[in-house]
This record gives sequence, structure tokens and C-alpha cells, in this order.
Amino acid sequence: MLLEMHDICKSFPLGDGYIEILKHIDLSVEEGEYLAIMGPSGSGKTTLMNLIGCLDVPTSGSYYFCGQDIAGASDDALADIRNSSIGFVFQNYQLLPTMTALDNVALPLLYADVDRTERRERARAALERMGLGERVEHRPNQLSGGQCQRVAIARAMINKPKLLLADEPTGALDTASGAQIMDLFEELNAAGTTVVLITHDPNVAARAGHTRHILDGRLVEEDAL
Ligand SMILES: Nc1ncnc2c1ncn2[C@@H]1O[C@H](COP(=O)(O)OP(=O)(O)O)[C@@H](O)[C@H]1O
Ligand SMILES: [Mg+2]
Repeated sequence: MLLEMHDICKSFPLGDGYIEILKHIDLSVEEGEYLAIMGPSGSGKTTLMNLIGCLDVPTSGSYYFCGQDIAGASDDALADIRNSSIGFVFQNYQLLPTMTALDNVALPLLYADVDRTERRERARAALERMGLGERVEHRPNQLSGGQCQRVAIARAMINKPKLLLADEPTGALDTASGAQIMDLFEELNAAGTTVVLITHDPNVAARAGHTRHILDGRLVEEDAL
């Protein structure tokens, strides 16, 4: 198993008490899997993505990523796991607006202590693989939404992560650009990357190997919907 969650709950402080957002989540993802997690707005998808991606820790329950205990990990340990093992893709791309496509893609390598020449070579090659070889010196505001998302995917993949984790990656894109992004995820999965994709869109979820459904903070079986 790449990751295993058992009986995960997540609450946030609210007023005098707490609001429980995720309720008794059991989720396992095998290496090489392509999983879609589908649910309506407000069902807890992003909260769950933040836990899967080691951006936050659960209130209770156990979470193991690559055999490592996440539920009790320090902030530094979580950052190490994210940098070495997880690539993130977000609906709004999360590119740094003042940096070129090349520098955006190369940034994770800076944190990984790769020297400048190698950073630039690897980032250029990654952008070429995304069909953006002519766009390396462009800034995000000089690129289309679909191009921005391909830059973001190149950045997510630059450290060869075990897990590619995407939250509504086509949510801001037109149908054709969205389809290109889905093709890319399929290729990356075929090449061995585990993909977890979070979406409210059944057409997007249908491209994954299989789908789990989230409703009101619980993972439910499809026939319970
Ligand atoms: N930090 C927080 N504090 C309080 N409530 C939150 C917090 N984060 C999310 N929520 C609530 O949790 C619910 C699920 O949010 P979210 O995970 O963003 O859902 P989704 O991504 O499926 O739209 C929403 O009702 C949201 O308002
Ligand atoms: Mg969300």
C-alpha cells in the first residue's frame, strides 16, 4: 500500500466547540493506482486532500504514507514527505506570478538542493514533455489556463513523486484543455505514478481507474448515493 487511512476524523474549532468535517474515513491506495474521489461542493474533498497530501494532520485515526506514521508526525517531517514524495496540482494552478514557467517548475529542485544548471535543464526537459518547450520564459499571465496547468503538472512531477495529488485540476478549464490535462494524468499513471484526483465532475472521475464517493464527510458506497 502507498497510503492507508483508518478511522480518520477531522474537526475544526467553531464558536465554543468543534465542527466535524471528516467522519470515520477508511481509505487505502495501492502503488500504481489511479483513484478519483468524487463528491459535491462542501462534502470535505479539499479537507481530505490536505490530509492525504500531508498538509494537515487528522484529529483522530491513523494514517500511514509509505509506511510512515503521519498522524503523529512533526511539521518538519510532513514537509520532508511532501517535498520528496508528493506532487500537488490545484484548480487555480498556484504558480508564482512573477516567475517564468521554467523557474516555477525548477523551484522544488531548489528545496531539494539541486544545483542551478541541473535545475534549469530538468525543468526545461519537463516543460518540453508537457508540450511547452516554446513557453519556458513566459510568465503565468502570458499563458492560457491549460498551459498554466501543464506548467503546474511539470512542477508537481519534477521530483518524481510517488503520488500525484490533484484537487479539481480541470475546474477552471474549458472542455478541450481539461481533456488534455486528463490525457496527461493517464500517461503519468501508465508510466507508474500513483494518481489521486479529487473532483465534483463525474466525467472527470470516469477517466480514473476507479472512484470513491464522499458525501457529508463520509466515504460512501455508490449504491448509497
Ligand atoms: N478550517 C476550517 N474551519 C471550519 N470549517 C471548515 C474549514 N475548512 C473547511 N471547512 C468546512 O468543511 C466543509 C468541507 O470543506 P471542503 O473540504 O473545502 O469541501 P469541498 O472541497 O468538498 O468543497 C465545508 O462546509 C467547509 O465550510
Ligand atoms: Mg474543494
